[in-house]
Amino acid sequence: MSPSAETASGDDVEVPNNKSRVTVVGSGNWGSVAAKLIASNTLKLSSFHDEVRMWVFEEVLPSGEKLSEVINQTNENVKYLPGIKLGRNVVAVPDLEHAVRDANMLVFVAPHQLMEGLCRRLVGKIRADAEAISLIKGMEVKMEGPCMISTLITEQLGINCCVLMGANIANEIAVEKFSEATVGYRENKEIAEKWVRLFSTPYFMVSACQDVEGVELCGTLKNVVAIAAGFVDGLEMGNNTKARQSAAIMRMGLREMKAFSQLLFSSVKDSTFFESCGVADLITTCLGGRNRKCADAFARNGGKKSFDELEAEILQGQKLQGVLTAKEVYEVLRHRGWLELFPLFRTVHEICIGRLPPTAIVEYSQS
Ligand SMILES: NC(=O)c1ccc[n+]([C@@H]2O[C@H](COP(=O)([O-])OP(=O)(O)OC[C@H]3O[C@@H](n4cnc5c(N)ncnc54)[C@H](O)[C@@H]3O)[C@@H](O)[C@H]2O)c1
Repeated sequence: MSPSAETASGDDVEVPNNKSRVTVVGSGNWGSVAAKLIASNTLKLSSFHDEVRMWVFEEVLPSGEKLSEVINQTNENVKYLPGIKLGRNVVAVPDLEHAVRDANMLVFVAPHQLMEGLCRRLVGKIRADAEAISLIKGMEVKMEGPCMISTLITEQLGINCCVLMGANIANEIAVEKFSEATVGYRENKEIAEKWVRLFSTPYFMVSACQDVEGVELCGTLKNVVAIAAGFVDGLEMGNNTKARQSAAIMRMGLREMKAFSQLLFSSVKDSTFFESCGVADLITTCLGGRNRKCADAFARNGGKKSFDELEAEILQGQKLQGVLTAKEVYEVLRHRGWLELFPLFRTVHEICIGRLPPTAIVEYSQS
């Protein structure tokens, strides 16, 4: 007889054997790449079911077809990752409850601003023994202070949550260009190693680090620094001057990332900033990626086009994280009286909301 497991609401779900079942909650650019990576490994690892479910926020394509149906017919996410086969064992599921129903390994990879609502919908719908990992960069700022997305998942769903962050540009990993990432975990090293096995491929090197907040804050805060780097790129300057300014922004950004993380969580380790999720991700994101690209366009337009307009124009459905994170970080700084301690973070937000011109970033990095 098949063993059974209980959902948090007490319903029995059938588990055919004790193999792990993976569901990816999210199917944007990185979500689709994560599903592809995982699906290539579940076929090889006997401790996992081959099938990987991917929850798809249903959209109707210009052709009139449903995105989830097209993914299942073509094995491609034609909207968020066109031209890349996900693997036949990836199944797109538009019903969230059905997607997570009997999974014991949940991979969260949706824009961070949607996570609170998503978790609310999942309460009582997931297995009580589920383990989660968050690939999401960002935080929620509440009255009582900042809440990391892994904490939000743990608090709302009552499950352990690791994080995976790194120097990852989804489109490049999709075409199997070399990249690396760090799994941050709290206590359970065995679970962290299971996640490492699930994600690792010869072109995607993953290691584990016992510092969940440090790893997650690296992934979150580097998007704010990338906005600053994008402003510098979009300003009229000679190439050498630009290179020096960008290097100064990255150095100061790393310093503020570390100081902010350690003020919030005294457990955050110095060494985490030298992992893939730290300096490597910071450099990668400041040189490429959507935050840098939109901030570059913002500066080129002299701040006259809003980030909302630029997001719609440049990213076509993808979401910009850095501007929102800059606002969230600013809220924390203001609330705690730390604004003077973090001039780069503060300046980025003030440029984003039009209080300062984009050129203010240069004045800041020269001071
Ligand atoms: N793309 C990357 O290179 C990359 C790399 C590392 C981490 N990340 C992180 O991964 C997370 C997800 O990014 P992504 O690139 O997979 O997504 P994306 O920005 O490419 O796509 C947005 C996704 O949100 C969905 N969506 C839109 N409106 C929605 C709604 N109302 N409710 C639910 N879903 C809705 C869309 O269908 C789509 O799947 C982000 O936190 C991002 O920072 C991305």
